[in-house]
Amino acid sequence: MTSRRIVLSQSAALLGAASTGLLLPEVAQAQPGKVRVGLMLPYTGTFAQLGVAIENGFRMAINEQGGKLGGREIEFFKVDDESDPSKGVENASKLVQRDKVDVIVGTVHSGVQMGIQKVARDTGVLSLIPNAGAHAATRSLCAPNVFRTSFTNSQPTRALGKAMVDKGHKRAVWITWKYAAGEEAFEGFKESYTAAGGTIIKELGLPFPNVEFQALLTEIASLKPDAVACFFAGGGAAKFIRDYAAAGLKGKIPLYGSGFLTEGVLDAAGAAADGIITTMHYSDSLDTPRNKAFRLAYAKTYRMQPDVYAMQGYDTGLLLAQGAAAVKGDLSSKVALYKALESATIDSPRGKWTMSKAHNPVQDIYLRVVENKENKVLGIAAKALADSGAGCKLG
Ligand code: PHB
Repeated sequence: MTSRRIVLSQSAALLGAASTGLLLPEVAQAQPGKVRVGLMLPYTGTFAQLGVAIENGFRMAINEQGGKLGGREIEFFKVDDESDPSKGVENASKLVQRDKVDVIVGTVHSGVQMGIQKVARDTGVLSLIPNAGAHAATRSLCAPNVFRTSFTNSQPTRALGKAMVDKGHKRAVWITWKYAAGEEAFEGFKESYTAAGGTIIKELGLPFPNVEFQALLTEIASLKPDAVACFFAGGGAAKFIRDYAAAGLKGKIPLYGSGFLTEGVLDAAGAAADGIITTMHYSDSLDTPRNKAFRLAYAKTYRMQPDVYAMQGYDTGLLLAQGAAAVKGDLSSKVALYKALESATIDSPRGKWTMSKAHNPVQDIYLRVVENKENKVLGIAAKALADSGAGCKLG
């Protein structure tokens, strides 16, 4: 609130000066002083926990740098995007036009991301994507001012198909929410599973964020596939895991997924999650000093365990800090800023990663299994996996 008032009173002062004929800076431009960081994340709905984890991780990374970016204090502006794509453009515009943010950190949902992408392309505001995997953001609609610290939707599942066939599961059913993230996750699964010799006998889906899984689980039981693969996340994922077990499928038809299925939900899902095998660019149990230090610091700060979302938020903070340091806090030095972000190596809890030309992480994908409420690493399913970046003309 205070910040809004300060901005308004500054504008009023400038307008007053205008009438006296003084040469003025553009009122619309952010004032020097604090770096204005916009957080556009879901704080309600099925992805609420994901938004909170991303913010926590982001703040932790910034606090580790002394709470500043390139030597400047920070002011935060927050919007709950509700994972509602119909409000994506409006919410992102509010941050840019009303709050004059220097950077938008967001979001989780691929549909909402397309709203941010439009605003980022139209206004040139720096956009850092801490989760949403929408292909277009780093493919056909890629932009010099848009950087992703997470994954593309098909990246984790491109490592899943072979792992399933290696276990002898050659006939699979795919199930997901029918929206960009689920459909693009399917793209990766289909490519990897069929290339390894598997056959997808049925694709099942329901609209986001519905959780009425019963009829679909009955259909799976009657199809009798060797295995089921899926994309679900957040609250819906916890319910899917529980319903799968309650329907009597657990232990009969092995459940696989893009690793989001088992992120941040293991307490809620309990024993129903044991044995689920997934592929993901992170695992709780990565046995490295970097990951252990991150997990300990996060647990101490927030009194809960970090997950992939917390880690992605953290890496977004690390990336922005590196960029801001390279331009000594002057985020309006765009050429130098983008160059620094493009060439950054992020020393992440997931392992070191770099940016592809299209501004998406090149990273290892781990094979994991749930054991005692933890995602245990079984191995690396794909080394330094890059998204195709198809249609992106950067670099
Ligand atoms: C997405 O909508 O892109 C999305 C949402 C949640 C996830 C992963 C991807 O866990």
